[in-house]
Amino acid sequence: MEIISFEELDSTNDYLKSKYSEYNDFTVIRAIKQINGRGRFDRVWESKNDLTFSILFTRSLPHHFIAPLSISLSLNYFGIDSSIKWPNDVLVNNEKISGVLIEKIFENKNSIDIVGIGINIEKRDNYTYLDKYKKISINSLLDQILKTYEFLSNIDLIDLKRYYLNLSTITGKNIIYNNISYIVLDINDLGELVIRNNNDTRTLNANEINYNTMKITG
Ligand code: BTN
Repeated sequence: MEIISFEELDSTNDYLKSKYSEYNDFTVIRAIKQINGRGRFDRVWESKNDLTFSILFTRSLPHHFIAPLSISLSLNYFGIDSSIKWPNDVLVNNEKISGVLIEKIFENKNSIDIVGIGINIEKRDNYTYLDKYKKISINSLLDQILKTYEFLSNIDLIDLKRYYLNLSTITGKNIIYNNISYIVLDINDLGELVIRNNNDTRTLNANEINYNTMKITG
């Protein structure tokens, strides 16, 4: 693993998207200041003294489980109780503290994954931030997340899923999707929701559905 830190980048994901061929598996690109950070669904990830980095992977791994788990388990390691909101937000006190943007590049037969992680450290308007709960050295947090990521990269999918379901609260909840109420039965190996309404069981991909517009009850 190699960590390369830049004072300023537009977006650590975009940097790796254009430069991935120059780097090896598990290269970490960190920006002390990210000025054009991106979130899921083309949202903006605003930065102000947060922890922003992206990891390059040249092998295929279930990042949809590993990424949020590494963050959540690391926060728990430092004594901050956190949980996962499907698909990969990390919450403290039910408020989002961290987001993950997983992007894939297909090149011949190789799949390249770029996993971008942002963690709010310091106060910004309308955002939850880590400093409110505990002062943790940003470098120690980054180290812990990367160590956990490495550990989780080597364990079985079935265990990853078990850890994930332990920290996520979505199974058993009711969701309203396209005006129809479904119960969430499970999360499959691809990280999709398995939902059911009477005899209609279907899966929902994280890209197909915007969690913010999906009502969850009960
Ligand atoms: C989300 O919650 O929608 C995902 C946010 C992901 C933000 C991180 S910050 C580091 C990396 N670079 C980006 O441009 N985005 C990700």
